[in-house]
Amino acid sequence: MTDLRDRRGRPLRDLRVSVTDRCNFRCRYCMPREVFGADFPFLPRDQILSFEEITRVVRGLHPRGLRKLRLTGGEPLLRSGLPTLVSMLHEMPDLEIALTTNGTLLAAQAADLAAAGLNRITVSLDSTDDAVFRAMNDADVPVAQVLAGIEAAAQAGLAPIKINAVVRRGVNDHTIVDLARHFHGSGHVVRFIEFMDVGASNGWRLDEVVPGREIVRMIDAALPLEPIEPAYRGEVARRWRYRDGGGEVGVITSVSQPFCGDCTRARLSAEGSLYTCLFATSGTDLRTLLRQGDTAALEQKLDAIWSAREDRYSELRSEQTAGLASGKIEMSYIGG
Ligand code: GTP
Ligand code: 5AD
Ligand code: SF4
Ligand code: SF4
Repeated sequence: MTDLRDRRGRPLRDLRVSVTDRCNFRCRYCMPREVFGADFPFLPRDQILSFEEITRVVRGLHPRGLRKLRLTGGEPLLRSGLPTLVSMLHEMPDLEIALTTNGTLLAAQAADLAAAGLNRITVSLDSTDDAVFRAMNDADVPVAQVLAGIEAAAQAGLAPIKINAVVRRGVNDHTIVDLARHFHGSGHVVRFIEFMDVGASNGWRLDEVVPGREIVRMIDAALPLEPIEPAYRGEVARRWRYRDGGGEVGVITSVSQPFCGDCTRARLSAEGSLYTCLFATSGTDLRTLLRQGDTAALEQKLDAIWSAREDRYSELRSEQTAGLASGKIEMSYIGG
């Protein structure tokens, strides 16, 4: 079977699979407590895809070009029995399996996940300053708990570990260099992410985005850097190496330098809808077909969805905010 191509000639290589819509953090930029409170209607169990249903979607996409899976949430480690899913997915050849977690439950689960066939792990950690971090996760979780999870993952052989830090101006930008310094020489790769307008409720403002080039300038002043080539086509992070051999850092510049041209990603939500862009507000329901057990119809649908894909959300947004990339706009309000 030949690889799928969308209308812009892009293959489908990566799938982000959300295994739960729940999270034990309430990061202000993602699940603010006022919105995701005690009475928030999270999905009931029967509306969430089973491990077997997730595996069938992946099995459908694998011969169509899929090479990389990323398990996400919410917080994926809240889904019980996750190593079982990893071992089911691990049966497919040439398929890398990664997981993005907030790290709080990682110390207890890292060894089982590695044994089940998990290849890589990415841990979100926005700051190593305890007060800043507790305020950002809004669940009073200390930095030490996440560091223990990172350590357990390294022990389990899940290295090189990536650390994701979302940077918000006025919130944690003063701790960027300390975070870089903490992991300098550890073999782990910190990636600083420009704060994005994902989710309708995160109150995004352009003036809270610290452009990647500014982040690099700050780190470079303390720990000199030099650029390195992308590890693979379509990689979202721009990579920089410490000149003293202390490893590398990355910046993910989805706002200031969008990378839709090479985007090979799709996203499967916990309730079984397929989205062809991280920012797409509507997806295509696959759960109904999955539950009817009609594999041929499912495969036809996968072909139809990807063939019709035209998404380039970040590029379109940056046309509106042109100037951020060139450095002309530093402070302005986009609204919404
Ligand atoms: P690796 O390079 O394999 O580690 O994967 P990754 O960088 O795609 O994984 P990860 O989930 O850690 O992504 C890091 C962050 O990059 C995400 O949280 C997003 O903020 C951003 N990102 C990832 N993929 C996309 C994308 O397709 N579009 C945009 N605009 N941002 C993305
Ligand atoms: N902007 C940038 N990154 C975000 N993430 C969640 N919300 C946002 C946002 N608004 C990041 C998390 C995690 C990854 C899966 O997505 O911090 O690292
Ligand atoms: Fe969102 Fe991740 Fe924070 Fe949970 S830990 S609220 S999923 S950004
Ligand atoms: Fe891909 Fe959409 Fe991100 Fe562009 S905005 S890189 S199309 S996920």
